[in-house]
Amino acid sequence: MKKDFLCLSDWSLEDLEKIFALTSDLKSKQKAGMQHHLLADKTLGMLFEKSSTRTRVSFEVGMFQLGGHALFLASGNTQMGRGEPIKDTARCMARYVDGVMIRTYSQQAIEDFAKYSSVPIINGLTDLYHPCQVMADLFTVSEYKENYRQLSYCWIGDGNNMANSWINAAAVFGFELRVATPAGYEPDASVCKRAADAGAKILYTSDPREAARGAQVLNTDVWASMGQEEEQQVREKAFVGYQINMELVALADPECVVMHCLPAHRDEEITDEVMESSHSIIYDEAENRLHAQKAIMATLMSYPPVACCE
Ligand code: CP
Ligand code: NVA
Repeated sequence: MKKDFLCLSDWSLEDLEKIFALTSDLKSKQKAGMQHHLLADKTLGMLFEKSSTRTRVSFEVGMFQLGGHALFLASGNTQMGRGEPIKDTARCMARYVDGVMIRTYSQQAIEDFAKYSSVPIINGLTDLYHPCQVMADLFTVSEYKENYRQLSYCWIGDGNNMANSWINAAAVFGFELRVATPAGYEPDASVCKRAADAGAKILYTSDPREAARGAQVLNTDVWASMGQEEEQQVREKAFVGYQINMELVALADPECVVMHCLPAHRDEEITDEVMESSHSIIYDEAENRLHAQKAIMATLMSYPPVACCE
């Protein structure tokens, strides 16, 4: 049966750790110049309803390195952009390609697409989640710290798609997470409830200092996500005090690492100084999108199967 990658909490710890093991293997092979054509002759369709730099490039390059091909489709140039029903697009695309990566607004739309598609669907970001990013992020932490599941993580800023995916990750991987958001900008309530029901160790606070104190991993994202551009000024006022700066970093573990999925608004949610400091692992995080997504695609799309999904 086909499997999709829509949300981290659809996956078990065991299978996600198999993806990390494959990520590490594929990264080593790529660095050594060894061929790793796990998806020879396969095609990934990439459907974008929002802008992207890292996601588009890393998926497209990743498919090339796996011996396959990627097809970029901007929604404005497809019939879906003119109102063709998701179920028709999903069914037809599955007749041509071996998997589809989608970046869109609604999580429901991607779930509907997956329901009608006979090939695997990968979430390249929705308003609710960004699971591929958090897989790359956790893999990056594991490269820097041996015990990545025993660390204390914090999220400072908007309770957005990235925050929701970190909350799912805390539930699956079992690490401690402290989430600091201003009132009115909390993460999705149903995501928080499901994580709590799963026994996740998460502290929710409006105090960024409480979240950062002693943390080994500090994480943030823009205050206005794609689709919220008109709220930028209101949000800039609401998020005063939620910046990751050297003062906040000084409260964290002295060996802490700082992450940001990018694109960043320097000196808004994170200072230029922190981004350029030795705490920053932001560019390794960006690079690992490539390696982690190759492992996700190989897991979902290769036949005979690799890693999980046997
Ligand atoms: N982090 C991330 O998804 O970047 P892009 O928006 O550039 O794809
Ligand atoms: N929260 C951001 C993430 C961008 C990768 C957004 O949705 O715009």
